[in-house]
Amino acid sequence: MRHVAPDIASTNPPAPETLAGWHGTALVVGCGGIGTALLQALGTRAPGLQLAGSRRHGHCSPLPEGVRAVALDLTNDASLAALPQQLADLPPLRLVINTAGLLHDGPLQPEKRLARLNRAHLERSFAVNAFGPVLLAQALDPLIDRAQPFHFASLSARVGSIGDNQLGGWYAYRAAKAAQNQLLRTLAIEWRRRLPLACVGLLHPGTTATALSDPFQAGVPDGKLFSPDRAAGHLLDVIASLTPEQSGSFWAWDGQPIPW
Ligand SMILES: NC(=O)c1ccc[n+]([C@@H]2O[C@H](COP(=O)([O-])OP(=O)(O)OC[C@H]3O[C@@H](n4cnc5c(N)ncnc54)[C@H](OP(=O)(O)O)[C@@H]3O)[C@@H](O)[C@H]2O)c1
Repeated sequence: MRHVAPDIASTNPPAPETLAGWHGTALVVGCGGIGTALLQALGTRAPGLQLAGSRRHGHCSPLPEGVRAVALDLTNDASLAALPQQLADLPPLRLVINTAGLLHDGPLQPEKRLARLNRAHLERSFAVNAFGPVLLAQALDPLIDRAQPFHFASLSARVGSIGDNQLGGWYAYRAAKAAQNQLLRTLAIEWRRRLPLACVGLLHPGTTATALSDPFQAGVPDGKLFSPDRAAGHLLDVIASLTPEQSGSFWAWDGQPIPW
């Protein structure tokens, strides 16, 4: 049994901005470990936001009370095209946090060496981790009001940093997260012209005790494995602090920038 770092509020970095005054709709894509914790934290910290949470297969397990359940598979174009209609009766979009990600699934496992690479697994990882976030932005773009502030945050991973890659391995996941970073950096540059109040952030949550990290927690030093609630608190602190001038950057859970 791994030791999960305690939820000590005082260990969170101070939030320079508060979410309490945010209004509109917040959509959390992917209600896995971190996504569900984000919805719970938003319910407390951002009472002015109407919350929506997406799952691939609709409402497969209970979402926190008051959260609109939305069906969305980021790898399916028809599903992406149907997303705006599912949000049509909600207030204007204020915040989107994409938490969808894929590291392992049955035979798809992080590759320890070149011999383990598999074309189908590379394509699947890229479909979720790289193409999904930018196609999500494309689907939501018509709903964004140019005159209103808007935050689009997507969970990346420190292992997606090319400059920080010292250990190798995990080819598909690393490369797909790096590709996500480039795609959303490019999006941020386009939105700076078209949507000057928008802010795109790429965020590393820290190693967090969820199904995604479960098989790989043995090497995490004691006290460095966050609970989903703690990770969600850190992520919201970072999101609240980001301004349009910082759009298109890559941040760790503690508010420190990560090299590309
Ligand atoms: N946990 C960590 O230590 C860690 C570290 C660094 C980065 N991250 C990143 O943080 C994010 C959240 O991870 P987590 O730890 O919360 O993992 P998780 O509990 O496994 O949740 C992953 C979510 O991704 C969703 N998803 C997968 N494929 C999808 C698709 N095709 N369309 C829409 N949603 C899809 C899943 O949806 P369903 O529930 O509908 O299947 C699930 O909600 C991921 O991007 C991950 O790469 C996590």
